[in-house]
Amino acid sequence: MKGAILYATKYGSTAQYAEWIGEATGLPVLNVSKGNVNLNAYDFLILATPVIYYKLLITDWVQRNLSKLEGKPIVMVTVSGAPPGSKLDAWVGDSLPAGFVANAKHVALRGRQIPAELTWYDRAMLIIAAWKNPDPVASEEELKGFDYMDKDSVAPVVALANEFKSRDPVAKQTETVK
Ligand SMILES: Cc1cc2nc3c(=O)[nH]c(=O)nc-3n(C[C@H](O)[C@H](O)[C@H](O)COP(=O)(O)O)c2cc1C
Repeated sequence: MKGAILYATKYGSTAQYAEWIGEATGLPVLNVSKGNVNLNAYDFLILATPVIYYKLLITDWVQRNLSKLEGKPIVMVTVSGAPPGSKLDAWVGDSLPAGFVANAKHVALRGRQIPAELTWYDRAMLIIAAWKNPDPVASEEELKGFDYMDKDSVAPVVALANEFKSRDPVAKQTETVK
């Protein structure tokens, strides 16, 4: 099957992960906020998005394109400060329709946040969030930043993409059945 890596990013770490997945799989890498993507050209998709303020940055794009995404195998790659777990799952569930989440395979990667690179608004909001956060580790990360970027962590995404690549396109499968 033919696939593509589509991503959203605010500060570049998800773009970096998308490039690494592209390098390892040979799939095209496209930023969803830079022009329209012809979704009919692809049988499966890797959708990579950061979590920003408890929501997936790619949410609005997914909502706009929901009908075209239906039926395609999807790997949802989240990039966040939070580690994989119930907190992250709840943000994913709040961001996207339940049917879409149920059909997608989710791989959680951890990103990067450098306080000096943030807009003043984001910096201020994260200082307030840190002050309110009862989790001491998360609070410290919101305040001082973090860097969990790890090229090797894309391996599960690459494995899924290669599995999808090796499958026959749906049209061809139907022909074989006939
Ligand atoms: C303004 C802002 C809000 C964030 N909100 C969350 C959040 O709610 N939960 C979380 O786990 N990480 C959060 N993060 C961390 C980002 O998910 C992480 O920095 C990610 O690598 C950013 O991806 P990007 O560089 O592609 O924009 C936030 C980061 C920023 C800058």
